[in-house]
Amino acid sequence: MKSADRSPGEILVISRDEVEALLTPGACVDRVLDTFRWVGSGVVEQTNPVNLYVHDRLGPEPEFGHGVVQAFPAMIRPLQRAAVKWLGSYRQNPRRGLPAISALDLVTDIETGMPLALVDGTSVTNMRTGGHAAAGAKYLARSDSEVVAIIGCGNEGRTHLRTLNVLFPIREVVAFDIHQSAASGFADEMSAELGVSIEVTDSVESAVAGADIVCVVTTAPMPVLMEDWVEPGTHVCAATGFRDVDKRCATRFDKWAVGWYGRDLEWIEGPEVGKLGGLQPGDLSKADIYADISTELMPGLRPGRERDEERTIMTHMGMPALDAAVAALVYDLAIEADAGTWIRVF
Ligand SMILES: NC(=O)c1ccc[n+]([C@@H]2O[C@H](COP(=O)([O-])OP(=O)(O)OC[C@H]3O[C@@H](n4cnc5c(N)ncnc54)[C@H](O)[C@@H]3O)[C@@H](O)[C@H]2O)c1
Repeated sequence: MKSADRSPGEILVISRDEVEALLTPGACVDRVLDTFRWVGSGVVEQTNPVNLYVHDRLGPEPEFGHGVVQAFPAMIRPLQRAAVKWLGSYRQNPRRGLPAISALDLVTDIETGMPLALVDGTSVTNMRTGGHAAAGAKYLARSDSEVVAIIGCGNEGRTHLRTLNVLFPIREVVAFDIHQSAASGFADEMSAELGVSIEVTDSVESAVAGADIVCVVTTAPMPVLMEDWVEPGTHVCAATGFRDVDKRCATRFDKWAVGWYGRDLEWIEGPEVGKLGGLQPGDLSKADIYADISTELMPGLRPGRERDEERTIMTHMGMPALDAAVAALVYDLAIEADAGTWIRVF
C-alpha cells in the first residue's frame, strides 16, 4: 500500500530483518552526517533521555540487572518528522533468555501529528552508532586508513566495520573479544560479507599494534584499551566514552572530539558522570575536548586531522536526533520498497 492510500490510524510496522535489509551502511552514514549538521545549525529539537529507573541503579545489581526504561524524543525539522525511541535495558536479561537491550522507534509526521511507523529500534541504534563512529573518523582518521582493529565483536563491532568500510579503503581487520568464539564468528561472517581479511588475536594490545583505526565496542566495565598501546597516526572510535577506554587517551592524544557538546558533556562533567562506571567527577572537562562534530568540525570552525602522526579519539554517547533521523529514513525506504506491515491502531 502507498502511504498516501492509508487511513490516519494506520501505521507501518518495520521489523529488524526489514531494517537490516533496507538500511545500507552508506545511506546510514549520509543520514548521520546530515543529522550532526542539522543539530549544529539548530533545526533539531531534542531532550536528554527521560530515564525511568526500575531499581536503585547505585545499589547492588538485582538478578537480571538494574532495569531502566528510557524515552529519547527528537524532532527533525528538515525531515518534517519527530520520533521517540523507547528503550528497555536489563544487563543480565540474557540469563533469562531475553536480550539485554530492546528498543522501538515511533515515527510521527510533524505537519499533521499523525503516527507513521513503529520501527525496530535496536537495529536502528546499532547502525546509527556505527554511523557516528564513521562520522568522527571522516574528520579525524587518516583518509588512507586501511587496517582496522575491532575490540568487542558484537553488534557494534559489526556495524562499525560496515560503516567505516563505506569511507575507508579497508584491507585488513584485526579482531579481539574476551570470548574467542565471538571473535571467530565475527571473522567468518564479516570477512565473507565485506571481502576483507580478518585476523583474530589474543590480546587488545596485539590487536591495536599497526591499526589505523581502532574501534572499542565492548560491554567491559573497565578500560581494556590503554593509552600507551596506541601508535602515532591512529584514530580511536570509542562507543562507551571512557568506560572501556583509558581516560588518558583524552588528554595525551593530540585531539579528542565528541559528537555534540549539548549531549556529550552530560557524560563528561554533567549529572551522568560517575553513575555508570567510567569517568568520575573531576576526571575530565570540556577544556580537554578539542572540538565537537556538530558545531565545530562540520562547519569548518576547527580543522580535523592535520598531521599523519596525530593520535585522535572520538567519543559520542548517542543522541535522540540520530535515532529519530535514521528511523525516519527507514520509514521512507520501506515506503519506497513497499516493505513492512500496515496495522490499523485507530
Ligand atoms: N554511544 C552509543 O550511542 C552507543 C550505542 C549503542 C551501544 N553502545 C555501547 O557499545 C557497546 C557494545 O554494544 P553491542 O550492542 O555491540 O554489545 P554486544 O553485547 O553485542 O557486544 C559486546 C561484545 O564485547 C565483548 N566484550 C565484553 N567484555 C570484553 C572485554 N573485556 N574485552 C573484549 N571484549 C569484550 C563481548 O564478549 C561482546 O562480544 C556497549 O557497551 C554499549 O553500551 C554505545
